[in-house]
Amino acid sequence: MSGHDAIEVISAKRDRHELSDSQIDWVIDAYTKGAVADEQMSSLAMAILLNGMTRREIARWTDAMIASGERMDFSTLSRPTADKHSTGGVGDKITLPLAPLVAACGVAVPQLSGRGLGHTGGTLDKLESIPGWRAALSNQEMFAQLESVGAVVCAAGDELAPADKKLYALRDVTGTVEAIPLIASSIMSKKIAEGTGALVLDVKVGTGAFMKDVDQARELAETMVALGTDAGVHTVALLTDMSTPLGLTAGNAIEVAESVEVLAGGGPADVVELTLALAREMLAGAGRDDVDPAEKLADGSAMDAWKQMIRAQDGDPDAALPVARECHVVTAPSSGVLTRLDAMAVGLAAWRLGAGRARKEDPVQAGAGVVWHARPGDDVTEGEPLFTLLSDDEHRFSRALESLEGGFDIEPGGTPFEATPLVIDRVG
Ligand code: URA
Repeated sequence: MSGHDAIEVISAKRDRHELSDSQIDWVIDAYTKGAVADEQMSSLAMAILLNGMTRREIARWTDAMIASGERMDFSTLSRPTADKHSTGGVGDKITLPLAPLVAACGVAVPQLSGRGLGHTGGTLDKLESIPGWRAALSNQEMFAQLESVGAVVCAAGDELAPADKKLYALRDVTGTVEAIPLIASSIMSKKIAEGTGALVLDVKVGTGAFMKDVDQARELAETMVALGTDAGVHTVALLTDMSTPLGLTAGNAIEVAESVEVLAGGGPADVVELTLALAREMLAGAGRDDVDPAEKLADGSAMDAWKQMIRAQDGDPDAALPVARECHVVTAPSSGVLTRLDAMAVGLAAWRLGAGRARKEDPVQAGAGVVWHARPGDDVTEGEPLFTLLSDDEHRFSRALESLEGGFDIEPGGTPFEATPLVIDRVG
């Protein structure tokens, strides 16, 4: 893999040439080892963002990132495996009810997850609000838990696609996150290295998502499905709406509480709908479409699997969740029908209240976040609570309120309506 240098690879992509397999292998390996500098890789990432990559280049780039670390193998488990990945949304707590639900249906879920950055929350941050719960597991612990409980949500170790870890942090500070080849290879290198047998991608579309329009989202979905399929992973994608935040909460502990409501057979209709849609795809991908996940929610077996999953990672599923020290209620400024609730506005408010982080080393507040008391289509009454803002620091409220301004519409005298379907399309 010698004979290349960083300037040659950067110039090739700058001048719109297709990178060769050996150029890609070399640059990923050299960057992981520190022989290609951050400024060189950020220049290449920008050239990729501007000039794109062919499917062949993306596949090779993904393989090179997988090869930078270890590859896990769950093929000796007694049950099939399936995982889900969401490209990130506001109020997206779906992994929490989904993983134990799918486990309760007889399919193991090995989910290596991340922490949130920016306005979208991270699954590990949410679970860490449960007293005692720990995100770091050894590979042996993960394997044992998959065999006994059937579901693990834990932190990806440093050995899983280390090239992506380094590159993602660099993209985050160089305006190069939004490149489809880089997003697709980033997500799929981790999921393929994780060793799941089936994968369902929840590709979010709308104001609260990376992909603001459906054509971009479809291109991302098709790219990822092709990468997964070529790697032997049964992969499908659902394009789902993220113009409105999911459920009624965005934060950490408050999203855990909402997920537990879903596992108890209640919870907001949209969260239940998406959880079941994704569960059905995961089960079909793993060859178990004979099981009805709705029954496992109704009969309490998904809740039992949740409690086992939390206890297996030293968490106490029955302990009280942390509560924010301060709260501020925003009342409806007029009566009518809520016609719009913007996911980005709510995500930003939750983030400013302390639920998310600005830099990856920042702590998050377990109790912080936003609760909204109506969803688009619902009647609201002037003076009644519309949002409850939660934070440990009172001084955070004013900036959160600013982000909610213009984030919703109330139509006086409007007629209440049913929510629009969440699943926009299916790829795969
Ligand atoms: N999530 C990832 O893991 N990688 C990206 O590039 C974007 C979202």
